[in-house]
Amino acid sequence: MKILCNTKSRIAGLLLILLTFLALQTNSFAQTPREDPVYLKGETIFKANCTSCHKVHDKLVGPALAGVYDKYDSEWLYSWIKNSQAMVEAGDPDAVKIFNEYNGSVMTAFNIPNEEIDAVLQYIKVETEVPVVADGGPIGENAPQEGSQMAIFLAIIALILLAIMFILNRVTGTLNELVREKMGMLVPEKWTFGDLMKSKKVITLASLALIIFVGYKTVDNAQRLGRQQNYQPAQPIKFSHELHAGINEIECQYCHAGAAKGKSAMIPSANVCMNCHKAIKEGPKYGTEEIAKIYNAIGWDVENQAYIEGYEQKPIEWIRIHNLPDHVYFSHAQHVTAGQLECQTCHGEVQEMEEVYQYSSLGMGWCVNCHRNTEVDFKGNDYYQIYEKFHEQMKSGEMKKVTVEDIGGVECQKCHY
Ligand code: HEC
Ligand code: HEC
Ligand code: HEC
Ligand code: HEC
Ligand code: HEC
Ligand code: HEC
Repeated sequence: MKILCNTKSRIAGLLLILLTFLALQTNSFAQTPREDPVYLKGETIFKANCTSCHKVHDKLVGPALAGVYDKYDSEWLYSWIKNSQAMVEAGDPDAVKIFNEYNGSVMTAFNIPNEEIDAVLQYIKVETEVPVVADGGPIGENAPQEGSQMAIFLAIIALILLAIMFILNRVTGTLNELVREKMGMLVPEKWTFGDLMKSKKVITLASLALIIFVGYKTVDNAQRLGRQQNYQPAQPIKFSHELHAGINEIECQYCHAGAAKGKSAMIPSANVCMNCHKAIKEGPKYGTEEIAKIYNAIGWDVENQAYIEGYEQKPIEWIRIHNLPDHVYFSHAQHVTAGQLECQTCHGEVQEMEEVYQYSSLGMGWCVNCHRNTEVDFKGNDYYQIYEKFHEQMKSGEMKKVTVEDIGGVECQKCHY
């Protein structure tokens, strides 16, 4: 009896701890990097002191600060922000280099503690790496997938504990009655947390609420992770598809050479840009500024028209826009070469976009609908030789059209690993 009661209150305590944990956990995974207190502090300091000369993604009086935390170590940044001129005068090579690059403009010295500089750097880091999504949620690597798995795990444990408590309650309840009956008297019972849990209704309601909440969170996160229609992150170089693919009529596949042959369409490397930009040093909108970033990435010396020897190349860090979940298989070649679809069917009028964005939803319904409705063109397409049966049925008039669905395009395993 006593042992049972003790076990019961221990379980109740454990349950309470678990539920608190769960609440905290769900709270912290609902928090986006832009709600983090360090970020907010950094934002305030940055806006008060730095915005007159710096932006994160664009050059102003001083350089764009995106990625600056990778360019230098923290010690360098602390000294630079506290007194850049002292570093230039002391002949620090990086300091002298950037100072000369900006024709000797002097950056203000700031007497602020390292911890505040760290906050500013955190702000710059989030602004650089975490794209702004319409609903404010984080995406990509920063998305809280692990958090939700942890929450589910804890919720399951909580449910098991609830069930054990329920059983124990029944047992003690019965034992209590037996004792009372035997002694012929009423034993006053102490109120315990367990009593609250005695009612089946409370248990059912609580578990239901928990399941709905966790379920909702998981689905919500999964959807945010997988797709973001209209997603349009700021890119490290203001590359315009309108200017290149539209006005200058450069073929999509000149740059996205993978689309015809492989799974991935691929983003061109800086070498591809250099095919033209060795000669084209100035653009109509940004002058030399944006094109200079290509040179900076690859190590091209504009004055001497030569690659700088021993230069440590930095790949241009384009931010990926389209991103299917890992469990989905999609091949460009299958659609572009075999299916003979235009890029624009899925990506919209890219040649009119100054900045590309995700035009289609990339949801499963989008893929499946097109497969149901799109006819495959058997004429003169060697790729379809294998479908002898359809060829014959088409000839005999038995079949008027063949859709992607007919060749197996809505079978689960065609799209899922
Ligand atoms: C008065 C204008 C001005 C202000 C205000 C200013 N900067 Fe600067 N900053 C510059 C200039 C100009 C440069 C380029 C180097 C030079 O000419 O000294 C620079 C360079 C830098 C660099 C080196 C960037 C690189 O790519 O090498 C960092 C980091 C930096 N600033 C951070 C900050 C931070 C953080 C603040 C706010 C706390 C700030 N700056 C405020 C003008 C300013
Ligand atoms: C001169 C080279 C060049 C040409 C020509 C070009 N692109 Fe691009 N494309 C890029 C670069 C660089 C990026 C990455 C930067 C960006 O997203 O703007 C990109 C990105 C994209 C993306 C987004 C990729 C992602 O991250 O998910 C799509 C879609 C795309 N291009 C489609 C097209 C289509 C369609 C055409 C033809 C109408 C085309 N491109 C022509 C260079 C090119
Ligand atoms: C096939 C030739 C070609 C290739 C390849 C090419 N560009 Fe260009 N680029 C041009 C032309 C043409 C212009 C416009 C020049 C003008 O109108 O004065 C231009 C202009 C630009 C501008 C200036 C924009 C402005 O309005 O100031 C940028 C930035 C640029 N390109 C980036 C890139 C990048 C990044 C790549 C590689 C992913 C690339 N280009 C590949 C031909 C090319
Ligand atoms: C049937 C629809 C469809 C067509 C047609 C299509 N794409 Fe895509 N594209 C996608 C999907 C879906 C993704 C996302 C793939 C992923 O995340 O694995 C994508 C991704 C991309 C990317 C990002 C890099 C990559 O390959 O994952 C580029 C660039 C791109 N497409 C360019 C093109 C170009 C250029 C064409 C035309 C030659 C084209 N696409 C035709 C659906 C399409
Ligand atoms: C605009 C129409 C369209 C959209 C959207 C589309 N597809 Fe397709 N898909 C086709 C066509 C047409 C073919 C036939 C090409 C062929 O013969 O393999 C095809 C074929 C396929 C095949 C090969 C089927 C087979 O039986 O060999 C796979 C796998 C596939 N698509 C996956 C996807 C996925 C995944 C998506 C969504 C991310 C998608 N497709 C979106 C039109 C589309
Ligand atoms: C034509 C391609 C295609 C076919 C066929 C297909 N799927 Fe999908 N499926 C997808 C894509 C793309 C996604 C990712 C959607 C997203 O991120 O919202 C997906 C997502 C899913 C998901 C994850 C839930 C979600 O919304 O993220 C499940 C489960 C799933 N598919 C099951 C199936 C089953 C079962 C079948 C067979 C009846 C099937 N799929 C057939 C393309 C396909």
